[in-house]
Amino acid sequence: MSVTHKKVAILISGGGSNMVSLAKSMVGDHPARPCLVLSNVPGAGGLNKAADMGIATAVVDHKDFKGDREAFEEALISSIDTYAPDVIALAGFMRILTPRFITHYAGRMLNIHPSLLPKYKGLHTHQRAIEAKDAEAGCSVHEVTAELDGGPILGQARVPILPDDTADTLAARVLPREHALYPAVLRRFVVGDITRVDL
Ligand code: GRF
Repeated sequence: MSVTHKKVAILISGGGSNMVSLAKSMVGDHPARPCLVLSNVPGAGGLNKAADMGIATAVVDHKDFKGDREAFEEALISSIDTYAPDVIALAGFMRILTPRFITHYAGRMLNIHPSLLPKYKGLHTHQRAIEAKDAEAGCSVHEVTAELDGGPILGQARVPILPDDTADTLAARVLPREHALYPAVLRRFVVGDITRVDL
């Protein structure tokens, strides 16, 4: 009896290290499989990594839409829905999405953000945590809602901030934790389990 897997589309803009860890987790008895890796950046390093893993790839370059965010998102939706994904995982995807896009994927879109939300929404999260003299930093996986980096938190992983940390050294400590957290949350989310994961 063939098992039908949930299908996960992963959206990236850069190297795609989170995409790789997600794709590598979706094997064996995992209830999902990656169906698409899409980037808004034509030369994104993650596209080659996805292709090497045998995953379908697509590019929808936001620069082709000259600031017309609606047209860009229509092209995104058209490309994504060709693969009929059950879940969308944003993984280093660096475009702000409008309520139109978010509504289209309501309840089935995740994002990973490199801070302990609700602290430090937006950019430069590690630098801000260091400047605030926080004792710890980390990452959060949340459902995507219209509020930027504001949806229900499904998991977090924490790391200490060390006295001589820079944004780069802290990012390097957080990134492996992202690679552990995101797959753990996704595995639950694809079967409707939103029990919070704390690592
Ligand atoms: C990561 O820090 C992630 O938290 C943020 O983008 C960075 C790069 O991610 N969203 P990746 O290596 O492209 O997955």
